[in-house]
Amino acid sequence: MNVVSRRGFLAGLAVVPLAGCAARSGAPIPGSATSTSRPLPIPPLASSSVGADGVRRFTLDIQQGTSEMLPGKRTPTWGYNGAILGPTLRAKRNESVAFTIRNSLPEPTTVHWHGMHLPARCDGGPHQTIAVGGTWEPAWTVDQQAATLWYHPHPHGATEKHVYRGLSGMFIVDDESTDTLDLPKEYGVDDIPLVIQDRRFTADGALDESDPTDIGLLGDTIVVNGIAGAYLDVRTDRVRLRMLNGSSGRIYHLAFDDHRTFQLIATDGGLLTAPATLSSIQVSPGERVEIVVELRGAERVMLRSLPIEQRRDIDRAAAFGFDDTFDILQLRAAPSPKTSAPVPDSLASIPALAAPGTTPDHTFELKWFMINGRRMDMNRIDMTIPVDTTQVWTVRNNDNWPHNFHVHDVQFQVVDIDGKAPPPALAGWKDTLYTEPRFTYRLAMRFAQHSDPTYPYMFHCHLLLHEDHGMMGQFLVLAPGQQPAPMRMDMPGMESEGTPGMNHHG
Ligand code: C2O
Ligand code: CU
Ligand code: CU
Repeated sequence: MNVVSRRGFLAGLAVVPLAGCAARSGAPIPGSATSTSRPLPIPPLASSSVGADGVRRFTLDIQQGTSEMLPGKRTPTWGYNGAILGPTLRAKRNESVAFTIRNSLPEPTTVHWHGMHLPARCDGGPHQTIAVGGTWEPAWTVDQQAATLWYHPHPHGATEKHVYRGLSGMFIVDDESTDTLDLPKEYGVDDIPLVIQDRRFTADGALDESDPTDIGLLGDTIVVNGIAGAYLDVRTDRVRLRMLNGSSGRIYHLAFDDHRTFQLIATDGGLLTAPATLSSIQVSPGERVEIVVELRGAERVMLRSLPIEQRRDIDRAAAFGFDDTFDILQLRAAPSPKTSAPVPDSLASIPALAAPGTTPDHTFELKWFMINGRRMDMNRIDMTIPVDTTQVWTVRNNDNWPHNFHVHDVQFQVVDIDGKAPPPALAGWKDTLYTEPRFTYRLAMRFAQHSDPTYPYMFHCHLLLHEDHGMMGQFLVLAPGQQPAPMRMDMPGMESEGTPGMNHHG
């Protein structure tokens, strides 16, 4: 297999030019974009109102704007309630939330709640398109443990472009245990959201959307919370960083420039059982990690991304950015930072959903831009799953390209990797998992509570170009006696089919 055959296979898709990958390996690009010159912007907490019915209501307007991603340059971008990114949404377990979301973009989009356990019709996947000028009003009850989730567009075949233009936001779920645990939790002070993304710019500062790679838009400039060259003033001796890889195709290997250790406290779906002391961690697109790092007075330390170590059987690793080193964010400690409590030794309990070696209910082979030899078809249901069952899936990347695997609606556990127990960083709740070539990952997950014969959930590679090229499938979760009744979609328009039980107007 080679690149040409893979491209030939993708007949009918937009063909991007070959070559041009060589320029982006190596050291950070010198210049103003990588010197730390501006304070890190913190996305505001979204305002919300709680009515007599107890429902917490949020409003999002998806809009076009202009951002200063690079100092002194004006970049046209898209954002939620602003020019770029979105406010941080926050809700408590067992709280009912409701959204009024207006699409003021010049094209249809969707809003997907990545990592959220919720009814399929509210999921915001490719079946919940919001037409131009239209409004979407999903509502559900949050029922999962505290976690750092995120929201982003999921329009069929155009997710990469919509995310690249700036549409991403954090969604923090709180629960009683995170309220009481002695962890840094003052938003924007010692509890900091970091949306880490790579971008390329044209000479006039516009986002460069040309794609000389096969992996997806791979940028030479790192932006955090929407800007390049950011620093963060830290006033406490411990800071919690909630980090999201919001990139299309770039994998980060996060570490500090002095190799100091940090404590990993949470992954995609919430807290680990206990903090893990690490000196680096790999994060692929869509994944989140929460770490706590200690700083001494007046210290300056750089959060960086180092070359990727997990590269067995990866072809053209340099073209995928695996050799790159980037500065991401400088931490600048106050001269005498406020002292805080050490991270508790015990964080959460995680009951095992399945025993190692359990026979899988479903197996998934990732290869080329396909899963089990098929590309996404919005009119094909790939499997049905009985509600309130626990399933074991195995996933294998049988490719020489990087891929990862994301499942909607659930948080899963990595039961074993080639029969071995997962490392600490993969031992907690996950919804997105990097899949190294030729390893077999056994996952366990429970499809609780929500069933719907009409609207499916997705599973897919979260490298956004791969997802857009169809490396995705759909499943329905069915109640006893329910028969699949999937809605037929007109491809690829999808404008304004109503969603039963949801309000569409505009
Ligand atoms: Cu983050 Cu199906 O998506
Ligand atoms: Cu998702
Ligand atoms: Cu992929």
